Amino acid sequence: MTRVLVTGGCGFIGSNFVRYLLQSDPEVQVINLDKLTYAGNLANLADLADHPRYRFVRGDITDREIVRSIVPGVDAVINFAAESHVDRSIHDSSPFIRTNVLGTQTLLDAVREFQIPRFVQISTDEVYGSLGPTGYFTEETPLAPNSPYSASKAAADLLVRSYHHTFGLPAVITRCSNNYGPYQFPEKLIPLFITNLLNDQPVPVYGTGANVRDWIHVLDHCRAIDLVWRRGRVGEVYNIGGECERTNLQITHALLEALGKPTSLIRFVKDRPGHDLRYAIDCTKIKNELGWRPQVPFDEGLRETIRWYQQNLDWVAAIRNGEYLRYYEKQYGVLV
Ligand code: NAD
Ligand code: TYD
Repeated sequence: MTRVLVTGGCGFIGSNFVRYLLQSDPEVQVINLDKLTYAGNLANLADLADHPRYRFVRGDITDREIVRSIVPGVDAVINFAAESHVDRSIHDSSPFIRTNVLGTQTLLDAVREFQIPRFVQISTDEVYGSLGPTGYFTEETPLAPNSPYSASKAAADLLVRSYHHTFGLPAVITRCSNNYGPYQFPEKLIPLFITNLLNDQPVPVYGTGANVRDWIHVLDHCRAIDLVWRRGRVGEVYNIGGECERTNLQITHALLEALGKPTSLIRFVKDRPGHDLRYAIDCTKIKNELGWRPQVPFDEGLRETIRWYQQNLDWVAAIRNGEYLRYYEKQYGVLV
């Protein structure tokens, strides 16, 4: 048995990855360390709660005691745990620095102390900053993060790099573009808009809606991470992207059309401060070295994702109350 410690496995990508790993490899045991912040949800892995090769530990990656108690003996640590929403980082960056920077440091120290053979840092293309209308992020693009979120992720990446360089820690970093798919918390563009539209509520488009993101289905991201933790070269960075650029307005119209809702539900609202114009990933390296490529066509993935939210209204309803409504009002006010 190979033992993998996944952190942040109760979030969107982490939960999809845990499910993917347990289903695709009968020789893997997964330990999931998650603090269960607002974004962490036990319901995301409820189907696996009693799985014989799965164990959940509630805990914070900044807690050295907990981390030192579960890291010894694992074959790999894959760090998904993070504060992940740009808009929240604009309201308050403190939890981002704590979890994304100090949490990563805590994990790195434990990986070093107990000589774990592999550490994978799940990073983001946002560390590269913003592109103009042309060009792509490669692994050589200089880091130029623009939001407190991306700055905290870039700081973590640099720490990982330094632990590899200084201590020979066997680390690999992945930098992926915008994910979509089932179990995504409805604060991010696609699930926010789907869940609002399902309730006939307006959808808030920042600025003119001309910003571009490179969309990837979460399962394509999971398949890439699976290749990287097993076969990626230590000390390397691997970009992962969907090769699927869309403006926010294109996404908005695609969702309205798929759900049969009127364009009168679009609200153009005040732009996000420091809003990155465009992200686009060059993923030649992972294609050439590991034979990965994105497989899920966007239209199909989006249709399936919409269906998942339609079929999981209880999951949505359990989230869209309390803290969520307070956040929503702070972020958007009342959309009329
Ligand atoms: P998410 O916000 O859905 O989930 C984050 C998870 O981490 C939650 O389960 C939360 O409870 C847990 N967590 C937060 N702080 C913790 C702490 N201190 N200790 C332990 N657990 C903690 O995030 P996501 O969208 O699934 O993103 C996962 C990772 O992938 C993040 O590192 C993010 O930066 C990166 N990433 C995300 C995207 C995207 O489009 N969502 C794209 C590229 C990279
Ligand atoms: P988001 O899902 O927050 O991901 P990121 O900022 O990490 O790329 O946002 C995706 C794009 O959608 C981004 O350009 C901001 C925009 N957006 C809106 O226009 N309205 C919204 O309510 C949200 C959450 C995002």
